[in-house]
Amino acid sequence: MEFFLDTAEVSEVAEIASWGILDGVTTNPSLIKKSGRDFRQVVREIAEICDGPISAEVTALDADGMIEQGLALKDELPDNVIIKVPCTDEGLKATKVLSGKGIGVNVTLIFSAAQALMAAKAGAMYISPFIGRIDDTGHDGMELIAEIMTTWESYRVSDTKVLAASIRHPTHILQCMMLGAHTATMPTKVFKQLLKHPLTDRGIDAFLADWADVEKAGKA
Ligand code: E4P
Repeated sequence: MEFFLDTAEVSEVAEIASWGILDGVTTNPSLIKKSGRDFRQVVREIAEICDGPISAEVTALDADGMIEQGLALKDELPDNVIIKVPCTDEGLKATKVLSGKGIGVNVTLIFSAAQALMAAKAGAMYISPFIGRIDDTGHDGMELIAEIMTTWESYRVSDTKVLAASIRHPTHILQCMMLGAHTATMPTKVFKQLLKHPLTDRGIDAFLADWADVEKAGKA
């Protein structure tokens, strides 16, 4: 499974990338706003740290505008930047054109398996179903991942990866892993929670205490 970071904070990307297991980064206009920094500069810095796919989102609502913005971003930013477009009819048109030019497209704001399949048919490299936002409405976001994975199996979709997004806690990731989602993008907090286990910490403390005794006895 690919592990992506969902952030526009460059220092967070640098920290997690230093672990050696960061596969990509997703940004969106809200995350860019939160960073308080220039969009292109942030994406450029992130793309220089992480060589996996870095999603940069367009804001036009019409296909021509999305294509124009997507091509400009591809022109100005490092090669590993891919273009994020919303799952609308105009977004599908833009996906078809951009992917036809060999540009990676991440179709975002997916809330149904039908939307996911349509985006795949348009040539998306990734489709992003938003789990947490479905949970927030009182439904089970993980059911959507299960439906999409079943659809992918039924139709043998192989060119489009399922990128689970809007992740709120480590259990979301574990469930996505068990369902076979190809990729998940998560906030830094969840990335860290996934690695942490109290028994690991206790184990290290106990080993170090015993090793100190070994050294004291001059047997190290
Ligand atoms: C995905 O690419 C989005 O940036 C993100 O996962 C949205 O998550 P949110 O629902 O926490 O805003």
